[in-house]
Amino acid sequence: MKCLWKQHCAGCISNAGVILSMLKEKSYGVFGHSVATGIIAREIAVDIGLCDDDVNMLYLSGLLHDIGKIFIEDSILLSGENLTPKQFNIIKQHPERGARIVEKFISGKLALPILYHHELPNGKGYPYGLRNDEIPLSAKIISIADKFSALTMERPYRSALVTDTAVLVLDNHIETFFDGKSQFVRNSLKSLNIRDVHIFSAQISYDIDSLLSSLKYCL
Ligand SMILES: [Fe+2]
Ligand SMILES: [Fe+2]
Repeated sequence: MKCLWKQHCAGCISNAGVILSMLKEKSYGVFGHSVATGIIAREIAVDIGLCDDDVNMLYLSGLLHDIGKIFIEDSILLSGENLTPKQFNIIKQHPERGARIVEKFISGKLALPILYHHELPNGKGYPYGLRNDEIPLSAKIISIADKFSALTMERPYRSALVTDTAVLVLDNHIETFFDGKSQFVRNSLKSLNIRDVHIFSAQISYDIDSLLSSLKYCL
């Protein structure tokens, strides 16, 4: 098994807790979406057979993938779908801003999945317009988890989709969102569907210490 992430430190996890608290304070909605993204990313990482270190790295990357949004003013962050092009350009800065924070305060290993989680295989994503194999596997996993999390959450303009409908939507857009020829993408969607992930029920803890407690054995 290939390991992407080998180093952990007590300071990193404690910094992650502080930074997640800032996100929770800034927007409970983005925080909840991030918790779900972390849990889903972990499920996918386990299912495709990554080692424990990588599973942990992807879980933490998912929890922090939108951390760059803490710098975005509320009037833009909370305006939903009705963004002007100028406002959308500000939103598009969040992967780079987030990558810089995690690199400085947590671990450089988290920077790539966070930096590239909005890249698309057709080159129309952001911030760099990378294509297919230019996008690292870690970022592809966060991207699947991010989109699945977004679809299965309540939005002001639509209700939350159930698991199999969300997987169907992702599958229908597989060539746009992901590398549709990739077996890993197909396996990931299949595993989400089979699992029927009940991650939005009361069983999820939104307590930051609990969320990070599974990483303690790495310290
Ligand atoms: Fe994002
Ligand atoms: Fe997100």
